[in-house]
Amino acid sequence: MADRVIKVGLLGLGTVGSSLVRLLEANAQEVWRRTGVLPLVTTALVRDPAKPRNLGSWRGTLTTDPEEVLSSDVDVVVEAMGGVEPATQYLLRALERGKHVLTANKELVAGSGPKLLAAAERPRRMFLFEASVAGGVPVIGPLTTSLAANRVSLVEGILNGTTNFILDAMREGASFESALAEARRRGYAEADPTEDIKGFDAARKLAILASLAFDRPVPVAWVKTRGIEEVTPEDHQNAARLGAVIKLLARASSEGGRLELSVVPTLIAADHPLAAVRGADNAVRVKADQVGEVVFSGPGAGGPATASALAGDLVAVARGAGALQIPAWKVPTIHESPAPAFDYRGRYYLRLRIEPDRLREEGLVLARSWRRQAGFGAVVGPVGERELRRALRRLGHAYTYFPLREDD
Ligand code: NAP
Ligand code: HSE
Repeated sequence: MADRVIKVGLLGLGTVGSSLVRLLEANAQEVWRRTGVLPLVTTALVRDPAKPRNLGSWRGTLTTDPEEVLSSDVDVVVEAMGGVEPATQYLLRALERGKHVLTANKELVAGSGPKLLAAAERPRRMFLFEASVAGGVPVIGPLTTSLAANRVSLVEGILNGTTNFILDAMREGASFESALAEARRRGYAEADPTEDIKGFDAARKLAILASLAFDRPVPVAWVKTRGIEEVTPEDHQNAARLGAVIKLLARASSEGGRLELSVVPTLIAADHPLAAVRGADNAVRVKADQVGEVVFSGPGAGGPATASALAGDLVAVARGAGALQIPAWKVPTIHESPAPAFDYRGRYYLRLRIEPDRLREEGLVLARSWRRQAGFGAVVGPVGERELRRALRRLGHAYTYFPLREDD
């Protein structure tokens, strides 16, 4: 018998929420063996109670009234509904009423994280969000505990499962549309998948990681963001010719206090540590002064992986682990300071409609070029992005470019 039952209320019972219900039905005994506490999901908020759901033998209550979760006797509220509002208001109310709060929602953490952390402080409740970044891959925990005595210089990763899945599938010959449809069917994509495709989801996750790694407020607007919608099958073929693969690479680096933050489709060498990240997997690579380099990788999206991270946070609550301390989030002007200028200087891959030799006329250093049926491919640089754009605009023809990064 459990020493104690911990009652859980869910806000949202879709891909993530229903996976958490199933995980706790299957593994409640594991949690009990390790904590002496038995988790029990009693209530869940949904929009449409009539919707068919795969909930195994779960017999809790469905409701459309948030108060039936927030004012109930639950000890923990788990938010898996998405969006910043009304989720923020619901979680603030939950904290006021003495509940611990867990979330998988990166938009909420990136937007309202500091407010929620502050609201959790006085009632000494926990606000935890491991599941909001990289799905089932533990990364917020390690950054805020095991690595916390290091000076971090780089956080680099694949932070969006949907786009990694699509890029992989396209490289193997699938169309963008069919790959996106499959990612949605598997529950990887956001309710509005343009959040994934345009890089916004990865940018939010990067802002969260950067603020923890560099111990300072990092507004999402500081992340230079480009999506994968411009990447064509031809680009994948060109990348292969260069011994590279195209990834939606998220990077946050700090040199002398200067932050550079980007989420941009990037050509990386096939032997780069992140090149082997396949399908909906994510990976986060951290470089730090004492530990050196560490890489965390695994399933980055999907119900079961995300539920695993939420359940891990639930275990932390059951154990009465210390609340997360993030002093940087107490800075009140978090969204007011201007974005640092970021102009990556390096080599770039180009897809062009003009003879690559003409690039030299514009002062670009042409490292490599080749003809293809539909046009040309080329590698130029080292050059700054602003200078590259100016030169390409002067040429006045359609072009697409992505950085081609060496491992650093
Ligand atoms: P989902 O399948 O669309 O589920 C959302 C759930 O919330 C549904 O049960 C929906 O009710 C409910 N809901 C939404 N708005 C509501 C409202 N205003 N009032 C009441 N109920 C509401 O989404 P999901 O994929 O589980 O994602 C949930 C959150 O987890 C998002 O923040 C997402 O970014 C994050 N996340 C997702 C994944 C993933 O792989 N899917 C991974 C990590 C993090 P109905 O069922 O009645 O429509
Ligand atoms: N839509 C997100 C992704 C879910 O594809 O990575 C995990 O946060």
